Amino acid sequence: MAFQSLFLYFLSSLAAVRAITVYNQQPLGQTQTSSADGAAYTGYQAYNPATLNAPGLPDPLPATQFGIQLQSSAAAVTGLSIPVSGALFGFSIETSVINQFFYFAVGVNSSFIQVPFLNLVSNIVQRAGRFHIRVGGNTQETARLVDQTADGRMIEKQSIDPNNPTATPVLIYTMEMFYLLANISSLMNVKWYLGIPLNDTSDLHLEVAQYGEQFLGDNLLGLQVGNEPDLYARHQHRPENYGPADYVGEVGDVIKAMQANGNIPNTNNIIGPSVSTATWTPEMVFDAGFITQYQNNLAAISVENYPTDNCFAIYGGNGSPHNPQDEFINFLTHDGLYSGKHMIEKFLGASAVAQQSQKQMLMFETNTASCGGFPGSSNSFGSALWGVDYGLQLAYSNFSHALLHCGGQDVFYNPATPPPTGLSAFHEWTIGPLMYSILVVSEALGSTNNSRVIDLFTNDGNVFTPGYAIYENDQLARVLLINYMTDASGANDYTATISVGGGDTGTPNAVPAQVKVKYLSAPTVAEHFNITWAGQTFGGQFESDGRLKGNETIETINCDQGQNTCAIKVPAPGVALVFFSDQALQESEPSSTATFATTAVTRTLNTATIDAQVLATSNGHSGKDRALGSTSKGSTGAAPASHVIPSLTALFSLLAGVLVLFRAFTR
Ligand SMILES: *[C@@H]1O[C@H](CO)[C@@H](O)[C@H](O)[C@H]1NC(C)=O
Ligand SMILES: *[C@@H]1O[C@H](CO)[C@@H](O)[C@H](O)[C@H]1NC(C)=O
Ligand SMILES: *[C@@H]1O[C@H](CO)[C@@H](O)[C@H](O)[C@H]1NC(C)=O
Ligand SMILES: *[C@@H]1O[C@H](CO)[C@@H](O)[C@H](O)[C@H]1NC(C)=O
Ligand SMILES: *[C@@H]1O[C@H](CO)[C@@H](O)[C@H](O)[C@H]1NC(C)=O
Ligand SMILES: *[C@@H]1O[C@H](CO)[C@@H](O)[C@H](O)[C@H]1NC(C)=O
Ligand SMILES: *[C@@H]1O[C@H](CO)[C@@H](O)[C@H](O)[C@H]1NC(C)=O
Repeated sequence: MAFQSLFLYFLSSLAAVRAITVYNQQPLGQTQTSSADGAAYTGYQAYNPATLNAPGLPDPLPATQFGIQLQSSAAAVTGLSIPVSGALFGFSIETSVINQFFYFAVGVNSSFIQVPFLNLVSNIVQRAGRFHIRVGGNTQETARLVDQTADGRMIEKQSIDPNNPTATPVLIYTMEMFYLLANISSLMNVKWYLGIPLNDTSDLHLEVAQYGEQFLGDNLLGLQVGNEPDLYARHQHRPENYGPADYVGEVGDVIKAMQANGNIPNTNNIIGPSVSTATWTPEMVFDAGFITQYQNNLAAISVENYPTDNCFAIYGGNGSPHNPQDEFINFLTHDGLYSGKHMIEKFLGASAVAQQSQKQMLMFETNTASCGGFPGSSNSFGSALWGVDYGLQLAYSNFSHALLHCGGQDVFYNPATPPPTGLSAFHEWTIGPLMYSILVVSEALGSTNNSRVIDLFTNDGNVFTPGYAIYENDQLARVLLINYMTDASGANDYTATISVGGGDTGTPNAVPAQVKVKYLSAPTVAEHFNITWAGQTFGGQFESDGRLKGNETIETINCDQGQNTCAIKVPAPGVALVFFSDQALQESEPSSTATFATTAVTRTLNTATIDAQVLATSNGHSGKDRALGSTSKGSTGAAPASHVIPSLTALFSLLAGVLVLFRAFTR
């Protein structure tokens, strides 16, 4: 079919979509979020407008002026982490929602990769060099590859598992899934973790290993064997006495079956034990021989953890109810009950064992609370602060990667939520606060793979004002400061006065003439959408095409080299990321062509370019086979005027047609 008629067909199909009345559709959330009345809300939880109150100020108040003494060389610092990469945070996507997340069927069999998704991921790839995504979760255990689903879709849900508190459906999927993941990786540097079903070791299904390796090659980082095996007995998937040694035995069965299968060349990519620590510690699995027996097969050691759960509110049962307002504060201090620090403490021993065994330590599935998170807190700016602190704490604790779990429309904690299926033609994506955490952490750690992190216990260890230093290639590169308090008056903004070398350190004064600072800001910790990173935002509900909007604002702070001090103000609430050299900034920035003025600079982002030809011919198809279209109204338009050079992300929108896979016509 000629290009033009394809295009017209696409437009008319959109018009048709628009005219359809969507039945069985829960009401969508309102865009206003100022009301605290979420109780009466009956729409999708991902758009629940319930807003909490910011917790009151602490008593006693922390000092708002304090010094931070640093060394410029990593050699002079004890307690630094191992080298970590800016790809620390990735996504964990429940298999059952990947068709929503990546794909949107414009009919039953004409699908395309979601452009906002590509834009979103490209933000991180530009900063960190790559992005990690795990596809799996509870649904991986019973997922089965089939030739075709009844309705022609890539993934179909079969039934609900009555023994699982998260109401996990049994899934069937088609080869489309492997094509899809390979297609995404052919467009940008996305690496994958997949999971081998382990619901029945006597009837192993290794298709995920076979086709995962075949289709993804080096882009497949590892295969998870067993998702939270310490919950198998509780969920009645194994006998009551199922223990760590049984799990270790089953992992051995999987490895043997892989080795015996001529279609699975790589058997050294196993990830486990992925315990939730509800009943087993990682050490119990290590003691049962997990590492010693499978040293040559393990790609990494994994755990899964949430600081708390909201299962009772969602599914009832034996759990205990949690009041999101009362418990908000538990997320909002450096070592609060639900803080990353508190969560990781129990894994420090396992992390040390992983390091001794020369295996990466992974937080394979995590978020603010299991069973979807809490209304008002998991989708608040407070969770963005929590995520930044958690990410840096993971790095400091020698974890290499952590995957933030994304659910469908019915959860509160998504870093990003695609519009509900059937509405994608006229709604854009909704970006959650955790997406900003991923951005900030990727910039704090940068693109060299060589950042080492230390928790500074700033302000005499006050839990409301934590800070970290990041050494890159053995030099002080960045400092990240958090203010968990909310105080619009400004009285609890704090000023950290940073000194480098000098004083008692026995090294010369070493503050630079000036430092650059980027801020993560919102009016209160309860805010849902008015969040900016260096002046840019993803906007409100249904407002994002995955690109940051607005001009990037980088502050320049002049230091006092005579006094050897740089005074950094951190608003209440907020995060400041301080760059000690332009190189430290460039290694974090999406572009290496950044130039900086001597005063506060405003600069357009997205100066990276990509060869349009490369994009047009990627995907295994030539561009001419596809119609020009877009996932949403307006996003095929020109890039903002400030983008003189088309950016990678703008090109994804402009060339959205490249990604449109009209199989109905091209096959
Ligand atoms: C494992 O999952 C498959 C596919 O969902 C199902 O048919 C089978 O009965 C399950 N096996 C066990 C032992 O539960
Ligand atoms: C992308 O998917 C299509 C089928 O949907 C397939 O023909 C093509 O080979 C895939 N491209 C890559 C790079 O995997
Ligand atoms: C991380 O690993 C380094 C290097 O082995 C070690 O010195 C440091 O104590 C570890 N950090 C934590 C928090 O355990
Ligand atoms: C960082 O590590 C990844 C994975 O090992 C590698 O592909 C990439 O090239 C590294 N980046 C740099 C700048 O060395
Ligand atoms: C957004 O937050 C900023 C402060 O972070 C505030 O100045 C501005 O008025 C807020 N905008 C809206 C629309 O609430
Ligand atoms: C962004 O910067 C450009 C050029 O400096 C300016 O014209 C534009 O008004 C700015 N936009 C915003 C939203 O501040
Ligand atoms: C697409 O789906 C429709 C409706 O199920 C079907 O009639 C048609 O044959 C399908 N086309 C292809 C190419 O599979």
